[in-house]
Amino acid sequence: MLETRFTRLVGCEIPIQQAGMGGIATPELALAVSRAGALGMVTATLVPPAALAQTLSAMQGAAGGPFGVSFLLPFLDQRECVGIAAQAARVVEFFWGTPDPGLVAEVHAGRALAAWQVGSADEARAAADAGCDFVVAQGQEAGGHVRGRLGLLSLLDSVLAAVPVPVLAAGGIATPRAMAAALAAGAAGVRVGTRFVTAKESGAHPLYVKALIDAGPEDTVLTDTFSVLWPNAPHRVLRSCVEAARTFPRDVTGEIEIAGRRIAVPRFGVPCPTRSTTGEICAMALYAGESVGQISSVEPAAAIVEELSTGAERLLRAAASPL
Ligand SMILES: Cc1cc2nc3c(=O)[nH]c(=O)nc-3n(C[C@H](O)[C@H](O)[C@H](O)COP(=O)(O)O)c2cc1C
Repeated sequence: MLETRFTRLVGCEIPIQQAGMGGIATPELALAVSRAGALGMVTATLVPPAALAQTLSAMQGAAGGPFGVSFLLPFLDQRECVGIAAQAARVVEFFWGTPDPGLVAEVHAGRALAAWQVGSADEARAAADAGCDFVVAQGQEAGGHVRGRLGLLSLLDSVLAAVPVPVLAAGGIATPRAMAAALAAGAAGVRVGTRFVTAKESGAHPLYVKALIDAGPEDTVLTDTFSVLWPNAPHRVLRSCVEAARTFPRDVTGEIEIAGRRIAVPRFGVPCPTRSTTGEICAMALYAGESVGQISSVEPAAAIVEELSTGAERLLRAAASPL
């Protein structure tokens, strides 16, 4: 019912993209979202080429619909991963760096669609000029690393005016109302992060999920506190973890598993706690968007997709009928 330029382009049924989220966007989560009719994404950050190829080939066998792979440019050391992703996935997407026509060409050579998450109209224009098939406008309500300075509505307005390609809206969207608002404003779909961190299939540590569920709408802060390993990159987290990290008495808050190896998480480090993380979870980066106050339970990803899409559709229909 909610057919848009995005659903037609990607070949999914529902105009929702689950955000790529390091350590959280596991294949299990992406597959659950894709099977529910939306676009599931896995994160390829710091995943070696052979492991990425293996994960994606298993997903190809299991996916019930299109899925995508997300790269963070500051951590893209092994460029062959882009070609591997493009041959296996429907969408390959980039964040945090100048849009690069060379990377987009590599994605197209593998027959995938290329996308870029942007924080300004200028960056959106550069992404479209680089050949991207769609862009994601990320408002500063977003959880995780925040690229731009504008709230979602102002940004969406200027990005829609700037580019001819479909535009998704990201940042603070966790309810049917917020999804309907973004679609009514002209977005071809929405990208949802924080709400999926609390999904049953997410890779997040249970204490991180509990902290999100307990948080109110004013409990996030845009900060540069967790900048060790990734400097000059503002991010939105729960205010409680900033306070906990500041008062934590040691240099290492715990251990996290990345690509099969256990590594120390430095105090103020970038990684957020996943299921296998040990240590002082509440003093690690607990990324959260402003929508966190609307999240009150753990649900299967398919239930989240269903609630958002049917609710948004009902609201859009009601708005279209005479008062
Ligand atoms: C836990 C978490 C991790 C994230 N990691 C990434 C990432 O690895 N790559 C990326 O492109 N965006 C990442 N983001 C940002 C999302 O792409 C998206 O902009 C954001 O989640 C949207 O706002 P919302 O969280 O309010 O839904 C992350 C967000 C969260 C909450």
